[in-house]
Formats: sequence, structure tokens, C-alpha cells
Amino acid sequence: MAEIKTIGILTSGGDAPGMNAAIRAVTRAGIFAGLNVKGIYRGYKGLVTDEIVDFKTQNVSNIIQQGGTILKTARCQEFMTPEGRQLAYDNARRHEIDALVVIGGDGSLTGARIFANEFNFPVIGLPGTIDNDLYGTDTTIGYDTALNTIMQCVDKIRDTATSHERLFFIEVMGRDAGFLALNGAIASGAEAAIIPEISTEVDQLAELIQNGFRKSKNSSIVLVAESPVTGGAMGLAERVKKEYPNYDVRVSILGHLQRGGSPTAQDRVLASIMGAAAIDALMDDQRNVMIGVKNHEIVYVPFTKAIRNEKPINRGLLETLRRLSI
Ligand code: F6P
Repeated sequence: MAEIKTIGILTSGGDAPGMNAAIRAVTRAGIFAGLNVKGIYRGYKGLVTDEIVDFKTQNVSNIIQQGGTILKTARCQEFMTPEGRQLAYDNARRHEIDALVVIGGDGSLTGARIFANEFNFPVIGLPGTIDNDLYGTDTTIGYDTALNTIMQCVDKIRDTATSHERLFFIEVMGRDAGFLALNGAIASGAEAAIIPEISTEVDQLAELIQNGFRKSKNSSIVLVAESPVTGGAMGLAERVKKEYPNYDVRVSILGHLQRGGSPTAQDRVLASIMGAAAIDALMDDQRNVMIGVKNHEIVYVPFTKAIRNEKPINRGLLETLRRLSI
């Protein structure tokens, strides 16, 4: 295979805490291995519009603790067209970029796979998303920080919920996946989690809450994953209110605050290990794989697998939540 001398790095899709730690790791491990590193701004958009600059070790100083991404991010329509990708390829070659490291979620890795196949171009992916919905890796960069943010928010809402003896529906992100809702519920001692992977009837939920109040609980918290399947916290609260008007119901949607903040130690370590592993993978002639972690070991997951397969949620955790919320 052709020798790789220069790599380009970009972040794409929704940002996630720890992306900066990953940029730092890829840049420094790359330079350590004797490679030239180029930073590409605004994801694939920057590849199309030529926002590409040399990255030295100083470019990534003092960023490991910062949320967001210094490279900025975007969702790029043009890259979805063959003409856009041709422009991207031409720009990459003009900057003598021989391989790309793409940090992002599902959509970003889909773009990476198409680009890699179309131009026979080496790409390594790093799973960067708070949703934790990528198959083949136990966890993704940003997930732990978002989970901690959710836990802190729910702790605060619990105070007011208890004072007023209210039932709160708290909506968390996750796109089509319930990892944040389910594990956030366990971490914050919530009464229930409503996730798209498992259907819950309003009756079941009401019974659980009623039992709780009967046992002299003076607040109830239900975490709801955003999704058309669950109906979101608003939809669910409306249904419960209609059928059980005696409950004092409130809704809180945590929204984008889940995507910000300084990454946790776990996300910094994960991003650093994965970033260094991306360089090892390239040096090892790996192509078109996502770096994953399984049982604390680095694994290479082919893009097709990471994108096409649905990551299974541990259904047993719902039962654990139910047992612990009596
Ligand atoms: O994929 C990350 C994520 O934060 C999802 O949880 C959420 O559905 C989506 O991005 C929100 O995207 P945007 O910031 O474009 O509204």
C-alpha cells in the first residue's frame, strides 16, 4: 500500500466532549510517528471548501480539558453529492493528504465509508458522539461526560421535585437510542426510563409511579429518551396528565447542555487512547475501520459493521432499574 506521510483530521456531526482530546491525541501521536498533520475545519465542509491548515504540537496545546471542538463541526450537504466529494478529494490531494482521521457519529462515518470507497482513500474513524449508539464499541467519546451532566441535572431537579411532591418527566438526548436515558436513570436513582428500544405503556408507567407514591415516595422522576417512538417527555406527560389528573406533572428538556462541558477523566482517557490507536491503525495498514474499545481492548470495526448494525441495549438494566426503584 502507498506510504502515508500526511494525514488530515476533522470532526463532523454533533460535537461531543472529548473531541478536543481526540484531536490532540491524533495530532501528537501522528507527529511522534513522523507524519505531517493537517487540521480540516468544519468537518467535510472544510474539505470541500479548502479550510485546511498545518497542525503542529502547539496547535493542540491546552485543549484536552475543553468541551466542543477546536476544529468546529458541521453537517455538510455538498459532501453528500459525488461532485462535492470530488472537490473534497481534489483538495485533500492538493494538500498532499494521504489519509483521513474522522471523529464523529453515525452520519460522519457513513460519509467516511462512501468517500473511502469512491476514491480508494484510507480513512480511520473515531466514535465521537454523546449518544453511544455505534455498534462495535462499548462506549463512545462524549458519552460519559453527557451521562454525568444528566446525572447532575437530575440531582438538582430531584430537589425541587421532592419539595413540591411532583412527577417529573425529563427528556434526554440520544437520537434513536436509549443509552443516555437508561444509564442516566440508574445513575440518578430515577423511578423509570422510557427508551425507544422497549415499549412502555402509559398504564404500566402510571402503576409504577402510583406504587411509589403509595409507599410514601414524595417525588418521581422518569427519564425519557428523545424519539418519535417514545413521544418525548412532552408527549408522555400530556398522556399521563390526561389519564391521571391528580398527578402534579412537570417536564424538563435538558437539550444541548448535554453536549457541552469539560470532558470527564474517562472521556479524556478514552479519546487519548483511541486517537493514538488511530495512528497505530494507519501504520498497521488498517483502512476504513472505526476504532472501538471492547472489554478495555482496542478493536478495529469495519465501517459497514459500525454503521449498519444496531447497537443492542442491555435490556436487563431496565429490570435492574425497576428493582431499585421500589
Ligand atoms: O447525535 C448527537 C445529538 O446530540 C443527538 O443526541 C441529537 O438528537 C442531535 O445530535 C441534535 O442535533 P442538533 O445539534 O443538530 O440539533
